[in-house]
Amino acid sequence: MKPAGSRSVGLVGAGFIGEVHAKAWRALGVPLKICEEDPGRSARLAGQLGAGQASWEELLDDPEVATIDLCLPTDLHRRFAEQALARGKHVFCEKPVALRTEDAAAMEQAARSAGKLLGIGHVLHFWPAYRFAHQLASSGRYGAPLSLSARRLGTAVTWSAGNWMQDPARSGGALFDLHIHDLDFALWIFGAPTEVGAAGRRSSSGAWDAVNSLLRFGERGCANLEGSLLLPPSFPFTMDFRLDLEGASLLYRFQAGANLGGASTEELVLYPKEGAAEPQVIPEGDPYLLELQSFLAAQSGPGEVVTAAEAGLALQVAQELRAALERGGGAMG
Ligand SMILES: NC(=O)c1ccc[n+]([C@@H]2O[C@H](COP(=O)([O-])OP(=O)(O)OC[C@H]3O[C@@H](n4cnc5c(N)ncnc54)[C@H](O)[C@@H]3O)[C@@H](O)[C@H]2O)c1
Repeated sequence: MKPAGSRSVGLVGAGFIGEVHAKAWRALGVPLKICEEDPGRSARLAGQLGAGQASWEELLDDPEVATIDLCLPTDLHRRFAEQALARGKHVFCEKPVALRTEDAAAMEQAARSAGKLLGIGHVLHFWPAYRFAHQLASSGRYGAPLSLSARRLGTAVTWSAGNWMQDPARSGGALFDLHIHDLDFALWIFGAPTEVGAAGRRSSSGAWDAVNSLLRFGERGCANLEGSLLLPPSFPFTMDFRLDLEGASLLYRFQAGANLGGASTEELVLYPKEGAAEPQVIPEGDPYLLELQSFLAAQSGPGEVVTAAEAGLALQVAQELRAALERGGGAMG
């Protein structure tokens, strides 16, 4: 699959998610150049995928590189995005867009000034079961959405480069790194919330690493969401949701084999008000590949992109939740 006239992508940061993106770009047939601080990691992945390697300055100087894909620790997103946009590159940047709404706004402004595309990796927009839920809610087939309940549960991330994930100033902890996926999902379904509240636990790093949040969307609906990175290492990564509509409920459950590895199981079932439960065939597709493919398509035609403004709204809600958590205190550990 080689998009016509595709130019190279410069992937910056080849860690956990960078490797996923690198494989997706190669599966799309896109020439790839990897920029990674750890030379061993860069050489291994470049060798495995037949990709090139480059420094940050080389990527910026390279006219063949039209797109920069930022898979860096979150606190670096703004600086790298602004530099790349100023040099005329389209930028795809992993979520969360940044850790402060002013950074997200500055990134959005930089894209506007440069006349380039800036897309944020809120991958649930391309995750088949979440996409199905969104389409069901917007189709009106079972009436309006009324309430959403969603969870995302895992163990502490210990593999990140230099352990940056354990530093709340760099990652924002589970509230900004993990829970933000379900905040984005809830906002995608209902729009901006009118009121938010939360209770949670801090880990020893000081980060809010277990969060239960309640969102009200005026008369449009409500959501209760849970995100935690404080489960024991033996606990398999789990994500699920139940979306209640006027005429049906949709239930999704995903569980990995062990933490993020091993064989996973998932099910998606529609429970209509009338009639029997309807298990759904979950559409095939690698959501990371689909989001990158869509970003590429959007550079020259129609293609869905999660904008920095949308991502900034999820970030703003995460900030409001943190304020609510800090007002309410919370247990440690
Ligand atoms: N969408 C998703 O499902 C998802 C999943 C995981 C992570 N993420 C996000 O992706 C981003 C990266 O997370 P990760 O888990 O891959 O982290 P990671 O630590 O595994 O990878 C980051 C990589 O960036 C490299 N790096 C750091 N500074 C660099 C620099 N100046 N130049 C070049 N390389 C540099 C590190 O050496 C490391 O290899 C974060 O924003 C995170 O929130 C998104």
